[in-house]
Amino acid sequence: MKYGYFDDKNKEYVIERPDTPYPWINYLGSEEFFGLISNTAGGYSFYKDASKRRLTRYRYNNVPTDAGGRYYYIYENGSYFSPGWAPQKSELDSYECRHGMGYTVIKSEKNDLKIEMKFFVPQGDNTELHQIKIKNLSQKKRKLKLFSFLEFCLYDAEDDMTNFQRNFNTGEVEVDGSTIYHKTEYRERRNHYTFFTVNQKISGFDTDRESFLGLYNSFAEPQVLEAGKSNDSIAHGWSPIASHFLEVELEAGEEKELIFQLGYIENKDEEKWESPGVINKDKAEKLMEKYNSTAKVEKAFDQLNQHWEKLLSSFSLEHSDPKLERMVNTWNQYQNMVTYNLARSASYFESGISRGIGFRDSNQDLLGSAHLIPERVKQRIKDLAVTQFEDGSAFHQYQPLTKKGNDKIGSGFNDDPLWLIFAVAAYIKETGDYSILEAEVPFNSDKKATIFDHLEASFMHVVNNLGPHDLPLIGHADWNDCLNLSAFSEKPGESFQTVSNKDDSSAESVMIAGMFLTAGPDFVHLAEKVGENGLAKKARTELEKMKKAVNKAGRDEEWFLRAYDYYGDKVGAKGNQYAEIFIEPQGFCIMGGLGLEDGFAEKTLNSVNQRLNSEHGLMILDPTIKEYQINLGEVSSYPPGYKENGAIFCHNNPWVMIAETIIGNGDRAFEYYSKIAPAYREKISDLHRTEPYVYSQMIAGQDAASFGEAKNSWLTGTAAWNFVAITQWILGIRPEFEGLKIDPCIPEDWNGFKVQRKFRGSKFEIEVKNPEHVSKGVKEIFVEGEKIEGQILKDFDKGPVKVEVIMG
Ligand code: BGC
Ligand code: NOJ
Repeated sequence: MKYGYFDDKNKEYVIERPDTPYPWINYLGSEEFFGLISNTAGGYSFYKDASKRRLTRYRYNNVPTDAGGRYYYIYENGSYFSPGWAPQKSELDSYECRHGMGYTVIKSEKNDLKIEMKFFVPQGDNTELHQIKIKNLSQKKRKLKLFSFLEFCLYDAEDDMTNFQRNFNTGEVEVDGSTIYHKTEYRERRNHYTFFTVNQKISGFDTDRESFLGLYNSFAEPQVLEAGKSNDSIAHGWSPIASHFLEVELEAGEEKELIFQLGYIENKDEEKWESPGVINKDKAEKLMEKYNSTAKVEKAFDQLNQHWEKLLSSFSLEHSDPKLERMVNTWNQYQNMVTYNLARSASYFESGISRGIGFRDSNQDLLGSAHLIPERVKQRIKDLAVTQFEDGSAFHQYQPLTKKGNDKIGSGFNDDPLWLIFAVAAYIKETGDYSILEAEVPFNSDKKATIFDHLEASFMHVVNNLGPHDLPLIGHADWNDCLNLSAFSEKPGESFQTVSNKDDSSAESVMIAGMFLTAGPDFVHLAEKVGENGLAKKARTELEKMKKAVNKAGRDEEWFLRAYDYYGDKVGAKGNQYAEIFIEPQGFCIMGGLGLEDGFAEKTLNSVNQRLNSEHGLMILDPTIKEYQINLGEVSSYPPGYKENGAIFCHNNPWVMIAETIIGNGDRAFEYYSKIAPAYREKISDLHRTEPYVYSQMIAGQDAASFGEAKNSWLTGTAAWNFVAITQWILGIRPEFEGLKIDPCIPEDWNGFKVQRKFRGSKFEIEVKNPEHVSKGVKEIFVEGEKIEGQILKDFDKGPVKVEVIMG
């Protein structure tokens, strides 16, 4: 069952009823000011860092779900309703929510009133705009009251939820005209405040939550709405909020428009105050002035749309399958941008306080955004590199506000270093800009280094940390955070990853070996490029050694082993009680070139197909683990079928898709692609539950009671990797160091497709034709009518370049 539809032309998903199977969300903002918004206007806003600079409050895991947001209430003659449905939930005569690129519009009708609320963050400013239109559809004059509502967070989101002995005393606000200023802690060490304003004269306000709601009322029944007037309350401690009270008169058929604005301001120490105790409002007033009319807001909205138009024009596909087009052209790229911006911080599954930017996560995210925002990708690479240690290991996470590594989790995830090579290689393949290798970025110790030095440290970290079978030591974990082979956790609440009670010089990861072999050749190329020929030679030798080690100790009979545990026993081997096969090394070892000469790759991928394939995608392992296994760690803590214990972990499915394209099996690659791509699952939204326009991290596996149900939408490496799989390997438009390679591997029944691809200053208009209905193989390529040698398009410094590709 569906709950809406894709409006492809406008790049929107249109939700037709408010009670979606889970709140279906969108993100506002793409620079420094961000908001998360549900289809009923729930959610919250923050500046740069969802944990450290949270501007408005939200209640995770509340009953009912999705509590806290940008709420509006319309009052008339003793009754009231919420035009976004939440929180008051009266039945609306019509409802529609359009989630678009960086904006959300909710339209509804009730009692002969038509309300439209558009939410977005304009480019270049730290502010969120709510453009509210109210139209009187009736024949009579109406006198309405409109109440706005949002609740401030006291900036540090975790402290805000826990430290009540202090926080119930610190809250402070100021009200000036139609503007409510939130200035908690501004009197001491904060030099920032938040404001919420409306571009019209108000008849009243509230800034104290209890005065607005009543102590025993929910958001659905504020006492102010019961009374039909505000209390003009000033918050002293407790919970500061912002609510405006406006009287709106509408003639028959008349429409009025209000612009609300939530803004964030920073002042220098010496410019904090206007007079003792009164905050300096200069910057706030300028910001308000900038967006205080419909014309100004509409202009900003146009600019936002142009920004997205331009971004998404970097890659666009014409194909007979609209589902594929909407994934590739719009939603997958949009999700790539969101994961670039938010990493794993704020979604409905990530509360915005636990993780900041992950070394592993963000490096992988860059694979999906290098073509969109190369300059910002370059900066992110540098920010990540600073948190790397001289021995190549890296802080697993850092906070975006401080850019400092997170001591609590530390380092020791032995896949981390390699992801930096993936990210830098992707950046250079996209841009051709090798100068990044010379960029000076110190190690975490402050030791001077170039980006190339960082890559060398990454590569050598693997070489210097090999185990008994000459395979890479796994450390706390590799990509699979839950395969904890060097830590035996016995106490509830302990971190499965970081409890250190076993020495970590025995457990080894075949997956890291596969990653090493995948990233290694790129490292060799880069070493040669910077003239480090000796190092390049050494690296080649190490790669050969690793290849031998995997072929000797990393294979089971029909697939690649997953690991060796602390005792030296095989993990992911036939005959094991549980988890005989894991997905990760199968994709990665083949990407790393293993098993291609002796048919082992085919055999492996057939095993994957037999053992892991399901109606809803490829499961991460089989059979699922039925009891807690201390030697395997968190993976066995999940009930069978969930998360790392046998769910369809959408992040690693594309590794197998890519492996299938490497052996030329386009039908299977695309079968796997379309099983998990959300647009293909839209028709089962009631089962899938999360948004049909973005990937979720996981879909419950065959052994779960809720087989097919997705969780953890939005912030997942799934986005970047599926984009890589479909665009670079299935459609086969692949940036390489030498240029843009064209090497499709598609289902045999496709006739072809067209792609427009911006690449290093050129714009290629590529038409792929498949007259012989093959899966793989390029017979001829014509550039501007002329046949070229090979499959690589070099950069052309001119307008659209027509490319014709004949498969066969
Ligand atoms: C989850 C993993 C996640 C990790 C992050 C685990 O509980 O299962 O998917 O990567 O937490 O720390
Ligand atoms: C989610 C984490 O963000 C990611 O780093 C990890 O690789 C996967 N889970 C698998 O455990």
